[in-house]
Amino acid sequence: MATWSAPGKVFLFGEHAVVYGKMGIAMAIRPRVFVTVRDTKRPSRAKSPYIDSCFEAMGVIGSVYINSQIPSSSGLGSSAAVTVATLAAINDEFNLNKTREDIAAMAFEIEKTVQKGRASPTDTTVSTYGGIVLITGGSRRRLPPQNMHLVVGDSLVSHSTSRMVEQVADLKKRHPEIVDPVLDAIQGVSMSAIHQLSNPRELGRYMNMNNSLLEVLGVGHPQLAKMILASRQAGAFGAKITGAGGGGSMVALCPKQLKHRVAKAIESCDGRAIVTAIDTEGVRKEKNV
Ligand code: MEV
Repeated sequence: MATWSAPGKVFLFGEHAVVYGKMGIAMAIRPRVFVTVRDTKRPSRAKSPYIDSCFEAMGVIGSVYINSQIPSSSGLGSSAAVTVATLAAINDEFNLNKTREDIAAMAFEIEKTVQKGRASPTDTTVSTYGGIVLITGGSRRRLPPQNMHLVVGDSLVSHSTSRMVEQVADLKKRHPEIVDPVLDAIQGVSMSAIHQLSNPRELGRYMNMNNSLLEVLGVGHPQLAKMILASRQAGAFGAKITGAGGGGSMVALCPKQLKHRVAKAIESCDGRAIVTAIDTEGVRKEKNV
């Protein structure tokens, strides 16, 4: 029996713009998915195309037990975390000698197949390696970790990443004169933010700017807007949509002493708040329980 876990993620800057080759910054965060795999000839497991694909890709048969702290469809990369942790647990249980690089690459291919061609290599990279990841075009590079006090607000409004990506593509086709400069401006925000990762006050301002630009792209939602404003009023340095928008989650960067007040403000808007911080480990082995 082998138990492995993998973290979720937030986009700090640059979601949607990264789809067009612009820079983005994502970070692994603490809610984790725990996956236990057992080598058995009579497999029992949750019905999930991600799990089935993991066993198929590894060429083995076994049982799985999943315990997820990451809400699904919340924009926090839960499917990538499940896939990464399952591959790592299968690798360990069956002694398959895959490297972390292999796991990240296989997880991305599985996400792409299950999600019918549309998957984010950011999610699988961040979940595998942890820390802060800079996305530039096709490349992904880890940045030095920073301790940030974050509160994630899940709007509990379901959304579809592929639908939101299509919606932005459609707007770009109809109004390139508006959307192209907005994508450039988001890249400008990310490029400035990268130099301020240890300066939360300044970083918060950039998050607010990024959020306004996402609103122009049409990926806002009244529930997200309410939680973002409430977080700022409660003292957050900055707050923005994180991920695809149209529902899903927002993230607030807070002074340490105010994170619980910000969480309360989010919950008073009927969102689910998660007080969190960076995860620097990525996928890791857990003691079997
Ligand atoms: C979704 O978490 C982030 C998007 O930029 C899509 C992607 O990067 O694949 C909207």
